[in-house]
Amino acid sequence: MKPFKIVKALFFLFLIGQASFKAVAQNGNAVYLKEAKFSIGNDNAWADSAFNDLNWKNIKVGDVWQEQGYPDYHGFAWYRIHVIIPSSLKKQSVWGDSLRIFLAHVNDVDETYLNGKKIGKTGSYPQDAGGYVSKWPAIRSYHVAANDQAIKWDQDNVIAVKVYDGGGSGGIFMGQPYIDMLEKFDGISFEQTAVKFLPKQQAERSLNLENKFNTTVSGKLHFKVINELNKKTVLEKNTNITLTPLSHKTYALQFPQLEGIRLIYEFTENETGKTKTITEIAPYLLTPAPSQKPEFNGASVLGVHPGSPVIYKIAASGKKPFKYRLQNLPKGLAFDQEKGLITGVAPQQGEYHVNIVISNKLGTAKAILKIKSGKQLALTPPMGWNSWNCWGLTVSDAKVRSSANAMINKGLVDYGWTYINIDDGWQAPVREKNGDIVANEKFPDMKGLGSFLHQQGLKFGIYSSPGTTTCGGYMGSLNHEAQDATTYNYWGVDYLKYDLCSYSNQIAGDTSLLAQQKPYMLMRDKLAQQPRDIIYSLCQYGIKDVWKWGRQMNGNLWRTTEDITDTWQSLRGIGFSQINNAAYAGPSGWNDPDMLIVGQVGWGENLHQTHLTPYEQYTHMSLWCMLSAPLLIGCDMDKLDDFTLNLLKNREVIALDQDELGKQAERLINEKNIQVWVKPLSDGSKAIGIFNLADDYSGYNLDLEKVKINKASIVRDVWQQKNISKNTKRIVCNIPPHGVRLYRITS
Ligand code: GAL
Repeated sequence: MKPFKIVKALFFLFLIGQASFKAVAQNGNAVYLKEAKFSIGNDNAWADSAFNDLNWKNIKVGDVWQEQGYPDYHGFAWYRIHVIIPSSLKKQSVWGDSLRIFLAHVNDVDETYLNGKKIGKTGSYPQDAGGYVSKWPAIRSYHVAANDQAIKWDQDNVIAVKVYDGGGSGGIFMGQPYIDMLEKFDGISFEQTAVKFLPKQQAERSLNLENKFNTTVSGKLHFKVINELNKKTVLEKNTNITLTPLSHKTYALQFPQLEGIRLIYEFTENETGKTKTITEIAPYLLTPAPSQKPEFNGASVLGVHPGSPVIYKIAASGKKPFKYRLQNLPKGLAFDQEKGLITGVAPQQGEYHVNIVISNKLGTAKAILKIKSGKQLALTPPMGWNSWNCWGLTVSDAKVRSSANAMINKGLVDYGWTYINIDDGWQAPVREKNGDIVANEKFPDMKGLGSFLHQQGLKFGIYSSPGTTTCGGYMGSLNHEAQDATTYNYWGVDYLKYDLCSYSNQIAGDTSLLAQQKPYMLMRDKLAQQPRDIIYSLCQYGIKDVWKWGRQMNGNLWRTTEDITDTWQSLRGIGFSQINNAAYAGPSGWNDPDMLIVGQVGWGENLHQTHLTPYEQYTHMSLWCMLSAPLLIGCDMDKLDDFTLNLLKNREVIALDQDELGKQAERLINEKNIQVWVKPLSDGSKAIGIFNLADDYSGYNLDLEKVKINKASIVRDVWQQKNISKNTKRIVCNIPPHGVRLYRITS
């Protein structure tokens, strides 16, 4: 099962993957499989090449059936693809060993036959032992020995595909199927491992070359480093390589750790002379190493409801252990020195200023935390992690716990990252007899999980839909809103993402605003009855300008667009379209352009390093902070690499997002490919982001008057955390492709 929207979005990922050869390569001579005969239902006799399918309908191979006028049918269906397999394919092949039948992806499970002979299966049917397992993210590439009698050279062949769709969309999709002959070259894949940052501005990437075939392959690896600014080659290296059957080798390659470095890896196979290439922008670090002295990195305000339980972890970096001194802690709250944790019961309505002093052997940091006890929560945008962009529907208790541990152990909590949010996929298929919602077998103890998070100062987030089912096909809250809110309270939930999904069926035909608001009002009222603070995240993709009424729903954040994916198109489309909603964002109600797409992402299986370049990732984080967007990391926390951690642990960049004033940046300049966004900050300074949307470096000369600043007494580069000029009326910069320069200007 998979949400239909996601599937469409993932099509982009596939295209990108093709461009950098990550998907299956295709040899020069290929026969495309464009059309098939199609029938819903199931009969194993349909695998037979002799079966008469003349009366079957025609279908295009490569697009889900729902997109071709077929009804939204879920269950079994068969494709019968008729194809003449020319013997010229075999003759022209150098290796001549095997025929490849490439079927791209299948929603959700398939069993594939060539002239009645089974040649592959991916996923498992409901009837199979172990039950239904969708494998739509897996690429289907089935191989048949060239001398296999099943292949009828130069004659009509039938490739019969028995498909099972378990929900959402169905069929062969996300790519153009074909047949061709495999070359040894096709068995080679290469993958980069995480970059190691070395002293003296050097970095090292290891490249893992793998031979997936049972034959020896030899060739040459050509590694090239280019300076993007002057297009000059910085260094080059050639290595001869022989990979024995089913073996792999790892090569460590070094390069300068600087902005503007492109790495090119080329493998040329000896027999065919064919070359595979991967190219990437080398990761480089902008955030300087943190001080060993204590530094307070938390927001300066905390909103609570009087009488609610409080868990607040002081976010501070520096050499541990710390000694804390807290003054003026309101009655009802206590402080745990060991954990740096304020807990207890929120005081009666009012504003309380707590003086915090954090010290270690090297120094002291002072801060004032304003606890505002009243009606508003989320006085600054929530920061944390959500399971969706990495684990999709495969999220489990173990994955959530290890993400929480990583949040602590990798020091993210020291920068204010605290929410641990389970997205879709935790719910059991049926409720208890009394109607209570229960978690599925992947989450044996929700209350225990909540306590585990709270003990470490983390917050617990959960997900549901106002409809009968969620977008992933799991149990929704329809007609059980009060019960679910009560259960969330019992489990210790601090955050609810409420996703419209199947509720659209409830209001089909009713285009009124009220129809859209009703489910959110209902859950709002049920949450308000709970004796704890639960952040309310509205997820309905921006329908009816939700930013104009999200606050009336007590929404603390509301998604403004469809789902994000890890491509520049998606990031650009979503991030830079947040131009008419700034007036509606502010303390307690934030526009949500969706979660962060950095690190290892993948929506379920086969996680991959984000397809965004380092420049794009700096843009992503900068723009989200400028937009006062909720910051929810969406990657596998256990695999967080040093680049991503450096990106996520910049206290000055985060401070823009968490600024107490809570003003969303506005776009004041939009010229060709340059956009200048400005965000007023609580101390009277302004943050300026100059973004380059072009595919090349762009120089830009910003006259500060154009963004309503007469003079800057200090211009500070917040990524590098250093002042770059004083007493000036302009900023001159050169910005990398899809990149950013981010400044804080004090007048
Ligand atoms: C989508 C939502 C995603 C994720 C998914 C779960 O509608 O936008 O963020 O929650 O559903 O199925």
